[in-house]
Amino acid sequence: MCGIIGYVGDRGAVQILLEGLTRLEYRGYDSAGIATVMNTGFQVVRRVGRVSNLAHTVNELHLGGHTGIGHTRWATHGAVSEKNAHPQQSTHGLFNIVHNGVIENYIPIKSFLLKHGFKFSSDTDTEVLCNLIEYHYNKEKDRENRFVKSVQKALFHVRGTYGLAVLCKECPEELVVARKSSPLLIGIGDNEIFVASDASAIVQHTRSVVYLNDGEVAHLTKDDFSIITLGNDNVHAVTCELDWQVEDTDKGPYEHFMLKEIFEQPVALENAMRGRFSDDYSTARFGGLRMSAHELRQVDRILLCACGSAWIACLEAEYLIERYARIPVEVEYSSEFRYRNAPLDKNTLVFIISQSGETIDSLAALQEAKRKGFRTLAITNVIGSSIARESEGGIYQHSGPEIGVASTKSFTAQICVAAMLALYFGRIRDMSFDDGIRFVEALRMLPDAVKKTLSQSDNIKKIAEKYAEYTDMLFLGRQSLFPIALEGALKLKEISYIHSEGYPAAEMKHGPIALISEKCPCMFLATQEHILQKNISNIQEVRSRHAPVIAVVADGHESMRDMVDDLIVVPDVHPALQPIIATIPVQLLAYYIAKSRGCDIDKPRNLAKSVTVE
Ligand code: G6P
Repeated sequence: MCGIIGYVGDRGAVQILLEGLTRLEYRGYDSAGIATVMNTGFQVVRRVGRVSNLAHTVNELHLGGHTGIGHTRWATHGAVSEKNAHPQQSTHGLFNIVHNGVIENYIPIKSFLLKHGFKFSSDTDTEVLCNLIEYHYNKEKDRENRFVKSVQKALFHVRGTYGLAVLCKECPEELVVARKSSPLLIGIGDNEIFVASDASAIVQHTRSVVYLNDGEVAHLTKDDFSIITLGNDNVHAVTCELDWQVEDTDKGPYEHFMLKEIFEQPVALENAMRGRFSDDYSTARFGGLRMSAHELRQVDRILLCACGSAWIACLEAEYLIERYARIPVEVEYSSEFRYRNAPLDKNTLVFIISQSGETIDSLAALQEAKRKGFRTLAITNVIGSSIARESEGGIYQHSGPEIGVASTKSFTAQICVAAMLALYFGRIRDMSFDDGIRFVEALRMLPDAVKKTLSQSDNIKKIAEKYAEYTDMLFLGRQSLFPIALEGALKLKEISYIHSEGYPAAEMKHGPIALISEKCPCMFLATQEHILQKNISNIQEVRSRHAPVIAVVADGHESMRDMVDDLIVVPDVHPALQPIIATIPVQLLAYYIAKSRGCDIDKPRNLAKSVTVE
């Protein structure tokens, strides 16, 4: 949600900033801007709309400079307009700032600054912070460290969240950056330093990075950097290597990142499993849980918290862990858990699932659980992300960067990790050696089964084209395919703007059936053998009300072709893994429907990839 890039070095900053913003655009795409600073002062360009609009103007104006900052915005305070775009400048033109997050106490600070002669030309909280920095700069006595001290002092008075980068007119070869609850990393190059809210913006320049922690302020020059806390302690920086390749952040031959990421799923699943089976292949193993089998046996309840698709992956984990490990599981939206004060048993294990590891509600849920003294673990995709660092232990998905706003390969990788957890928890409880071996065999065959399902994409494309003009759609499934019905509906509404709902197939009779007509197609996820007849009854119920039906069934049930309008036959796999297989057709259907409708698939309106505001 909003992207930040910054550069200080010998190269021209402008192209580096524009390139970084293009890679960050999935974070927010309401408006974008850059500022550079030279001995002659600032050069600033801001534009409403996409980074390409900004690039057009920037290139026409031939902007220069070796130090600069850039931002792509997802509006929180103030409408989408040029005056509200970042960078924001201070009243007397000494500072420019880009900021992710929300300054909660900006109103009293603004009143204070107004009394001291500061002026405001935007509706943003960011401009308030920029002016507060200028206020402290004017008062700062430590001339040598004046720039960094003024940012530090301003932040001392701020309540809220921020990832920010600041330029000072009087220090054209320096950058100051800071973070609190909004990710920021420093990239260390050869005689150049980068800053970004997301590794994808800088991975083409360097893979050597330092993640800033909450409450830290960093002072950057082209060949050095130092970090202090708001409390003025020096911080020893820990440098790590990014495990991403530049190609991971390119579309390659695909038209959209979403399609690329859908097709990356066999590899993403292999990566999620790599090295995670025991030597005798009867169970899974995880290096990062930091809990012994003995401690895990004491757990008598698991609470899973997440947002968006990751929340749906939690529902799937509930089915898996309860069925195979027989541990009671509860699933909460992170935002609800945080404020609900639910009574939890002392032996509850709290698990957070988050692709980005930065979603603020999930981070806050994690912090709340820790505050109450619960053991916390997390499944995340981004190494070094806030949730990964703050949880006591966890599991990385290893899906590679996910750029498409609608989650795809992350979702199936999260379910795959949940299945391995169910196996692991099951094997330290009551699951037999034989069942463990069968489970592992099924997992190892999963990437191939996903590949086979993907090979039907042309067929699914044709089906999608038939349904592209409808305005409503229902997704129905039973048991562990009910969450996939939710995911199908979420994917479709996110990227095609068609109203869609996911429902348990039998529950459909208790409400959604009122919507059924020839104008409301129903997609049935019906790959489970033991409840196929029940699903067939539900199919008959909607067909008798003239709804067009698409069904997804397992190999061997091709005869259902006569009963429905469109049939998708997928490989028959272990019951624990059917949800992953059933996800592929709903992803492809949503993708091709959105494509037929000419939607902006990778950047759907109003959405953002990593939601770092509450
Ligand atoms: C946003 C994205 C979703 C994602 C959700 C949670 O809403 O559009 O695709 O599932 O955030 O993100 P997380 O990074 O915590 O998994």
